[in-house]
Order: sequence, then structure tokens, then C-alpha cells
Amino acid sequence: MMKIIIANWKMNPQTLREARNIFQGIKKTAKKLKKVETIICPPFAYISNLKPQIPNLKIGSQNVFYEERGAFTGEISVWMLKDLGVRYAIIGHSERRALGETNEMINKKIKTALKAGLKVIFCVGENERDFEDKYFNFIKNEIDEGLKGIPRKFFSPPTGGLIIAYEPVWAISSAKNAQPDTPESAFRMAVFIRRMLMPIIGSEPARKIPILYGGSVGPENVAGFLQDMQGALVGSKSLNPKDFGEILKIANGIK
Ligand code: PGA
Repeated sequence: MMKIIIANWKMNPQTLREARNIFQGIKKTAKKLKKVETIICPPFAYISNLKPQIPNLKIGSQNVFYEERGAFTGEISVWMLKDLGVRYAIIGHSERRALGETNEMINKKIKTALKAGLKVIFCVGENERDFEDKYFNFIKNEIDEGLKGIPRKFFSPPTGGLIIAYEPVWAISSAKNAQPDTPESAFRMAVFIRRMLMPIIGSEPARKIPILYGGSVGPENVAGFLQDMQGALVGSKSLNPKDFGEILKIANGIK
């Protein structure tokens, strides 16, 4: 199965010129790789200026709005994104949750995006670890509420459009004293997520949907996470074409 590597640029870089340079640098590497799907999620402002033009490179957005059109100053609709060639949308990133996004809002966003035919990169992750494994319940609740009431047809292969990104918030590089999770514990969570998805989205889709890891991923640790997981969501290292290119090459070489 192809690995999926997602670049989340967050609110960077500060000029279109830099964005183009980073994009071209990544594209040069992605072009040569057949076994990895690269998805670049730039800020909205740059999307129309970045043209992937190769089959295994796609553009994603970092957010969407849950209403399809109308009087919502400052928001961006799924249809505008689709019109610009966007195929993926990150929804529920912990940095958006920190700004006040609730599970209910995330649920509405996922529904709207899937209905429009966007593939959704649904982010979940606990703020802290405890020793009694209570954080598993926290993740279960994020998923239950995030996917509530979404018709199963949106999850069925081949068109099914859900990807889960498990990103423990404490592991994201901008967190204080951030450290990556271990591949073993991330995989343990992926197994849990897959099992809990079965009654929600059906067993066939639950077996097949990609589950990615995110949080301080770099060239030095990505191979471990990719052994048992289907890809990675990369933040700070995705702004450096050399580091990100390394990550792509490593992903391409995993059996
Ligand atoms: P990081 O960010 O790779 O800088 O830790 C990951 C993310 O927030 O998606």
C-alpha cells in the first residue's frame, strides 16, 4: 500500500515567493517517487498559486468551514477549495481545537467536506498521557463525536474519503518539551482506533482506512512510525524541502 505523507505548513511561510520555493523543492523529489502519495497543505492564500501537475502530489487545505455558502465573513467553503483543485482537507487539528473548535463543529465540517467529495484528514490526539490508559477514552470520544451521524457510504472503498491522523498534542513540535511518541505506542493507538471504527463506519472500511501518525516527525524517526502505520503528518519539517524530501524518500523505500 502507498504511504501517505502530509505536509502541514500551518501559518508559514510569510511570502508567496518562499511558498513557491518550498513547493518546487518538494515537487522535485516527489516526482521521482512512485510509492508515496504526497499531500501539501499550505495556507489558503497560496493554494491557487501552487500547481502540483504530477499524479502523486496533491493539495490539501488546513481547515474548511461547515456551512456551504453565505454570510460567514472570513470563512472558506468546501466548494471554493474544490474549485481550486483541493482534494484533501485537514479537519480537527489540535491547533484549531485550541482556538475553540469543538467536536460538534468538527463533526459538521467533516460532514460538509465528505459531502463535497473532499478526502478528510481527521486529526485526533490526547493533550496528555496518563498511566491508566484513560487517554484511549479521550480519543474514542473525539472519534465518536467527530463521526456522529455521517452516512456509511462516505467511508466505503473505493471512494471512501476518510484518513485518521493520530497526533498526540504533547508530541507536536510546538508544544513545550515536545517529544515524538514511540512507534510502538502510536501503533497501539492505531489498532485501538481501527477496532473502535468498525461499528461506526463498517468493518471493511475500518480495516482499510489509512491511519497516520503526527507529532515531531522528521527524517530521523519516520521509518519507525511507517513500519506499521500508513503514513505521517509532518509540521515543522515540511517547510524544509531537504528534510521533507528525505522523509518522502524513506517512505518510498518502506515495503
Ligand atoms: P510537527 O507538527 O511535525 O511540527 O510536530 C505536526 C502537526 O501539528 O501536524
